[in-house]
Amino acid sequence: MQKQLDALLDAARAELAAAADNAALEQWRVTHLGRRSEVTGLLRSVGSLAREERRAAGQAANAARRDLEAAFEARQAELRRSADGAQVDVTMPGYPVRLGSLHPLTRTLREIRRVLAPLGFRAVSGPEVEWDRYNFELLNIPADHPARDMWDTFHIHDKARPGELLLRTHTSPVQARVMEQIQPPVRVIVPGKVYRYEDRSAKNEAEFMQVEGLAIDEHITMADLRGTLTHFVRMMFGPDRELRIRASYFPFTEPSAEADMSCHACGGKGCSVCGGTGWIEILGSGMVHPKVLADVGYDPDVYQGFAFGMGVERIAMLKYGVTDIRSFYRNDLRFLRQLR
Ligand code: PHE
Repeated sequence: MQKQLDALLDAARAELAAAADNAALEQWRVTHLGRRSEVTGLLRSVGSLAREERRAAGQAANAARRDLEAAFEARQAELRRSADGAQVDVTMPGYPVRLGSLHPLTRTLREIRRVLAPLGFRAVSGPEVEWDRYNFELLNIPADHPARDMWDTFHIHDKARPGELLLRTHTSPVQARVMEQIQPPVRVIVPGKVYRYEDRSAKNEAEFMQVEGLAIDEHITMADLRGTLTHFVRMMFGPDRELRIRASYFPFTEPSAEADMSCHACGGKGCSVCGGTGWIEILGSGMVHPKVLADVGYDPDVYQGFAFGMGVERIAMLKYGVTDIRSFYRNDLRFLRQLR
């Protein structure tokens, strides 16, 4: 039997060396390792041998089978290597290099700044971990005032100063910070992260961005607010946009107004983007409350001003037609590449 195996191995090895492609390789495997192959037959026949011969014959046949398997794998690897080598064609174009790009929120933020900068608004920032005093007190929202319910707040436990630290719920605290630091005229915008203790959904994130605007001077009226916002929506969403303001309530502005723009998708006729109304709410605004001015040391009889605050994701969703706010934070490249 050993002789038969040796002959078989020699023949199979010679054939294998001649197998030059995958089809030949597969044919070889079926012939020499398959169910009808010679080794398999020999292995099967071991059972019919005399008892004393079985052990040695079984071992020899199994060894031969392992040799064939090893030879097959080696040849396969060899063919694969030379195939790779054959494919190197230096005249082939290289793999395309994918360029990175700015995140849609970064682009929206930069556009907002670019639109407001020529009107004199300078970008400033403030802390995301904020004192209760700035987030609420100095915005005319005393402790226990029901207006606090407008902002679901993440509080920060600090043993030394219980109840005083929180994650800012809006960028408005920076209004007070800026006014404490500088004298009018004031024209700033405040881009930044804000946090709200809210369920996440397609419409709401617990962590999102706002841009605050603040203008204080001696003769500022609501017409200036209207003019600024009208300019803003036309620069952002096209020259045909109309602005509409509706009475609203914020403790730190009086009067307060929600600003809507005519729908950029349908031009105001009514569509699915504007919920059939023709108008899209874009921000909250108002004339800075005299109490807020007085609390930072400005004389409300001399100075007035307006403020507004908008959600950056909301603006970006409208601009890019995004329907789920969470997409901005999933880092899914397929989403990001679509908005490039
Ligand atoms: N801070 C308000 C909010 O987050 C928005 C706002 C800013 C309203 C400035 C009026 C003036 O809801």
